[in-house]
Amino acid sequence: MAQLWGGRFTKETDKLVYNFNASISFDKRFYEQDIRGSIAHVSMLAKQGILTEEEKRQIIEGLEGIRRDVENGLLEITDEYEDIHSFVEANLIDRIGDVGKKLHTGRSRNDQVALDMKLYTRDEITELDGLLRELLEVLLKLMKENTETFMPGFTHLQKAQPITLAHHMGAYFEMFKRDRQRMKDIYQRMNLCPLGAGALAGTTYPLDRDYTAQLLGFDGPTLNSMDSVSDRDYLIELLSAMSTIMMHLSRFSEEVIIWNSNEYQFVEIDDAYSTGSSIMPQKKNPDIAELVRGKTGRVYGALMSLLTTMKGIPLAYNKDMQEDKELVFDAIDTTKGCLALFTGMLQTMKFNEARMEESAKHGFTNATDAADYLVNHGVPFRDAHGIVGRLVLYCIEKNIALDDMTLEEYREISPVFEEDIYSAISMKNCVEMRNTIGAPGKAAMEKVIAAEEAYLAEDCK
Ligand code: ARG
Repeated sequence: MAQLWGGRFTKETDKLVYNFNASISFDKRFYEQDIRGSIAHVSMLAKQGILTEEEKRQIIEGLEGIRRDVENGLLEITDEYEDIHSFVEANLIDRIGDVGKKLHTGRSRNDQVALDMKLYTRDEITELDGLLRELLEVLLKLMKENTETFMPGFTHLQKAQPITLAHHMGAYFEMFKRDRQRMKDIYQRMNLCPLGAGALAGTTYPLDRDYTAQLLGFDGPTLNSMDSVSDRDYLIELLSAMSTIMMHLSRFSEEVIIWNSNEYQFVEIDDAYSTGSSIMPQKKNPDIAELVRGKTGRVYGALMSLLTTMKGIPLAYNKDMQEDKELVFDAIDTTKGCLALFTGMLQTMKFNEARMEESAKHGFTNATDAADYLVNHGVPFRDAHGIVGRLVLYCIEKNIALDDMTLEEYREISPVFEEDIYSAISMKNCVEMRNTIGAPGKAAMEKVIAAEEAYLAEDCK
C-alpha cells in the first residue's frame, strides 16, 4: 500500500478500506494527462521562483522518463498505489530523489484530479468529434449518390409518401451535425483551467494561474477555487450529449434492423458486419445494430447515475466525486465504439434500390399527389381528400395500385381526372415536385448537399 499521507495516522489502513478507496485501477488511464499537468505546474513554479530552474529541469526529465517508460511497457502501473497521482509522484521520487518531493508544492489532489479529468475529457471530445465527422462523410456520400433512389417515407411505420434515400440519409446528417455542435459547445464552456485552486481555497504561494492555463491550452483559469475542485457539470453535459448520440444511433439501428428483415429487404448488411446462429444455418443476424441499440441504455444509465451522485454533495470536494470516472470512461468507450462500428456497417451495407422503389409504389404513397392533382384542377382540398379516399378503397378491393386504374375507372369517381393523372402520380413526379427547402425533390436536395459539403469543408480549415 503506497499512499501520499499517513503522518497523522497511528494505524495502518484496513485492507478493505484501502481497496474501497483506491482509484488506480481506473484512473491509470489518464497517466499521460497527469504527467502533462505536472510538467505545466512545475514550469510555472520555476517561473515564479518557487522552484529553481535546475529543480524544474530534473523534475521534468523525471516525469518525461516515467511517461516514456509507461508507453514502452517498461514501467507497469500496478495496484500497489492508491491512485495515478501517487504512482507518478512515488516513481518520480524513486528516479530523482528528494527533489521529486517538491512537485506537489502549491497543489492538492483535488485540483490535480479536476485538471486531469478535464484534460482527458477534452482529448476524448476531440476524438468523438472526429468519429462523428467520419459518419457525416459516409452519410454525405450516400446522399450524393442517391438523389434519385426512391423509397417509401413512413409515419407510424406505415408508408406515407415517396422520398429518396438521399433524403432519408439527410435526416441523420442533421442529427449527427447537431451532435458535433454539442461537442464543440461543451468543449468551449469547460475549457477553463482548475489548476491552482488547491484543496478548495487556493494557495498562499504566488502561483501564476494564467500561465499554467495557457501552457495547457485552456482559455484561462477558473474563477472560483471551490467550484474548480467540485464542478462536474461538463461531465454531465458530455454524458447527456453522448446519450443523444446514442439515441440517434439507436434509432438508425432500429431502421437498419427493419430494413434488413426478410419482409423488407431494403438493405443487406455486409457479411463482415453480421453474425450467424449456432442452430439455424440460414440466419444472418444484424447483431451490431442490435448491440448499438442495446448499449444506448448503458450511456443513459451513466448520465442518471452521475446526476444522482452529484445531487446532494456540499461544497467543495467530496470523495463521492471519484465515482465520475468509471461512468464517464465506460460511456465514452461505448459511444466511440458504437460510432466507429456503425459507420463501418453503413459504409459496407448494400441498398436494394429496386426493392425500395417497388415498395414505394405500393401502399398508396402517391395518394396525396392524386388529391393535389384535383386541387390544381379547382377541387377544394377537403373534397379532393374524400374523392381520393374512395379511389384508394376501390383499389384495395381490386388489389391494385392507383397507377393501375383505367381512366374510365378514375372518371367514374370524378370527371375531373384526365390522361395526365398518370404522370402526376408517377413516383418520379411525386418526389420531383417537392422542392421546398429541405424536401426530397432533386433540386432541393442538391442545394442541401452543397450546404452540407460547405459545412464539412469549413470545418477542415
Ligand atoms: N481519486 C480521487 C478522485 O478521483 C482523487 C482526489 C483525491 N482527493 C482527496 N482529497 N482524497 O476524485
